[in-house]
Amino acid sequence: MKKAAVLLMCMALASAAAGCSGSGERNTPNAAAVQAQMTEGRESAGDELTVSGNSRDAETALQNTDRVQNGKDLASGESGVLIVYFSVPEDVDISGVDAVAGASIVVRDGEKMGNTEYVAELIRETTGGDMFRIETVDSYPLDHDPLVDQAADEQDEDARPQLASHIENLDQYETILLGYPNWWGDLPMPLYSFLEEYDFGGKTVIPFVTHGGSGASGTIDTISELEPEAQIYEDALVISRNDVADSAKTVTDWAKGLALQERSQEALLQETAVLETTAASSAELPFPLGQKIESDSFTGNAYIEMMIANDETYHFPQTNHLTFEPGARSSWHSHGGMVLLITGGKGFYQEEGKQPISLVPGMIITIPAEVKHWHGAKADSWFSHIAVEVPGENTSNEWCEPVDEETYRKLV
Ligand SMILES: Cc1cc2nc3c(=O)[nH]c(=O)nc-3n(C[C@H](O)[C@H](O)[C@H](O)COP(=O)(O)O)c2cc1C
Repeated sequence: MKKAAVLLMCMALASAAAGCSGSGERNTPNAAAVQAQMTEGRESAGDELTVSGNSRDAETALQNTDRVQNGKDLASGESGVLIVYFSVPEDVDISGVDAVAGASIVVRDGEKMGNTEYVAELIRETTGGDMFRIETVDSYPLDHDPLVDQAADEQDEDARPQLASHIENLDQYETILLGYPNWWGDLPMPLYSFLEEYDFGGKTVIPFVTHGGSGASGTIDTISELEPEAQIYEDALVISRNDVADSAKTVTDWAKGLALQERSQEALLQETAVLETTAASSAELPFPLGQKIESDSFTGNAYIEMMIANDETYHFPQTNHLTFEPGARSSWHSHGGMVLLITGGKGFYQEEGKQPISLVPGMIITIPAEVKHWHGAKADSWFSHIAVEVPGENTSNEWCEPVDEETYRKLV
């Protein structure tokens, strides 16, 4: 296809903006209420599981521990994501049970797991991060009453239980997902030992919590106090133990929404390459400006330069270079699959329902087909990227509303 014709096609697509058709809180006055919630939760869970009170299945417990500690899980750190969790699966008989929630366990494919442990596994399956289980030198009782008594005593004494497991390669992780159960309206005391052992300064900590009715209580604030230099993610995952067994979709959606791959990419690039990428003029960008895009589907001036035309001999993908002046951006839109290779300046990419991602040269964004999104420059810099089209079958271009000016101005 001739360059001019392709250009015309791009313009036509861009201008076809036809609208988007296409606390058990022993320290608070609520102690009695929370204890009642917990007791109620245990009773109903007990009904479901037919708890017999037998002694713990030691073999299963050992397998659980091995799975996390044998080095397979706490691996290379390549993903930049570490999933840390603390979990105490209580002693219940699981014989004859395939998959059901218990007082403090989930049974998955005949395997017994703590509630928080199960959520951690789901997160790992979604994000591909490495796994680390917080363990104590003195293990906790697995019968409920002695367990809650010990936890209460530890809290009264402000104890710091000695940890049996330690992270060797913390430097390799930018993002720490931190999972724990609510214990007496607070972090379990081993979490205090853990958070005091490590400095997560410069890292993002993303909490996930399981509970028996009190939610996360004040634990997120406590993590912020113990890790003042870390960025604590506000939209923590908080799941009642009654919902844990059926939480796969909730957990997966939440974990996907964290956009961890892009976070690690951005952190890695900021470390290694381009800390200051502001482009004060288009002359600082590596590719020519191309032609101005005349379209209502862009705010501010954007330019397009065709790089590679799709051809029927070698099937090269249609590839264009786009440049945005400071503040310029596309409207919300969707199309077939596309890969953005960031070449200059500073910009944003945002998918509907997700946080915007800051873009710097070297980053790669894969846009799935039919996902509504926008991209463009930051307010103080020119911005450019290569767009490789991977349209797929039965996909269409849909142009929607502009990115709201007030929302855009608040982005940094
Ligand atoms: C010692 C102890 C104290 C607890 N305290 C609370 C509490 O204050 N509020 C609450 O909502 N749930 C409380 N729970 C319930 C747990 O938070 C809940 O069962 C959790 O899902 C257990 O996670 P795990 O199986 O990963 O250990 C407590 C449980 C235990 C064992």
